[in-house]
Amino acid sequence: MSAALPTSSREWHLVARPNGWPVAEDFALREAPVTEPAEGRVLVRNLHFSVDPYMRGRMNDVKSYTPPFKLDHPMDGGAVGEVVASRAEGFAVGDHVLHGLGWREYADVPVQHAVKVDASLAPLSAYLGVLGMPGLTAYAGLFEVASFKEGDTVFVSGAAGAVGSQVGQLARIKGAARVIGSAGSDEKVKLLVEEYGFDAAFNYKNGPVGQQLREAAPDGIDVYFDNVGGEHLEAAISSFNVHGRATICGMIAQYNATEPTPAPRNLALVIGKRLRLQGMLVGDHAALQPQFVREVAGWLASGELKYRETAVQGIENGFDAFLGLMRGENTGKMIVSLV
Ligand SMILES: NC(=O)c1ccc[n+]([C@@H]2O[C@H](COP(=O)([O-])OP(=O)(O)OC[C@H]3O[C@@H](n4cnc5c(N)ncnc54)[C@H](OP(=O)(O)O)[C@@H]3O)[C@@H](O)[C@H]2O)c1
Repeated sequence: MSAALPTSSREWHLVARPNGWPVAEDFALREAPVTEPAEGRVLVRNLHFSVDPYMRGRMNDVKSYTPPFKLDHPMDGGAVGEVVASRAEGFAVGDHVLHGLGWREYADVPVQHAVKVDASLAPLSAYLGVLGMPGLTAYAGLFEVASFKEGDTVFVSGAAGAVGSQVGQLARIKGAARVIGSAGSDEKVKLLVEEYGFDAAFNYKNGPVGQQLREAAPDGIDVYFDNVGGEHLEAAISSFNVHGRATICGMIAQYNATEPTPAPRNLALVIGKRLRLQGMLVGDHAALQPQFVREVAGWLASGELKYRETAVQGIENGFDAFLGLMRGENTGKMIVSLV
């Protein structure tokens, strides 16, 4: 069954592979026909879609943990929307679903890739952020990968972003001795301390990261949650106490680099301090999903956990939203809203 459908809708295509920072000419917003779904599929009108840093890697033609975007095809990524036509058992017109065919107004989704979400429990956009992939990344990265324990001093970079703002607050909620964050503006730094309850925060653009971190964590750090790489990772290695643990989650400082970036010059400290630097991919931690949703929904309801979203309105602004994310124009999860 279906409501009246438009004959066409718009979707973003990658048309050239960026060299360094992406430019508008690398992308095109194109019309595509909207058709009734085939058996086992649902047609979804997307209400919000996600732009994420990992998408920059998918714009390159290199082998990685996710396949590159194909040129002249619609890009994809997380989205939430409303089912407008269904040929799948258990899915009805009006249901809300989370799925992987973002960057477009209408998505023809195989039902095994659609997960029903409840709009009465949380705003739909939250399933792309605080209750979605970035939230699980923060939860798994702190508790499972970094083996966080009560009394740890935790440093997180990218701390006003989707993942980072959740990492810092989860550490506070679970009894960190001290939570320190870095972000790219004085307004973000203020937010970390005043709204999210970080003990200290600094603007990495205001001076050397190593020095600012030493001042913010005079007794050293036990956990570093790395969203940034580069100078931040080097600073964390210097500030680590013995048996420190780093979750290497992202290195956004180098995603648009055209030359290989330098390694931390102090890597040898890993030996004497017996450090553990552990990479992570959120997809490896799906087993934590029920526990993550239960705990995080509880902290949201009690007000212990807060979150922000930056919503860019309109599909025509999808590329600008992605670029804005890479430039730090977002506070919390960057979302493209189609409603
Ligand atoms: N491994 C995984 O499974 C996984 C899953 C999700 C996300 N991630 C990674 O986690 C990180 C955060 O992702 P997110 O979705 O939460 O994005 P986000 O933090 O909400 O947005 C990206 C932020 O990165 C900061 N940034 C950009 N360039 C920077 C630079 N040169 N130095 C320092 N900060 C810079 C900007 O904030 P400022 O204003 O503070 O500069 C920007 O707001 C990314 O590295 C991403 O790739 C990994």
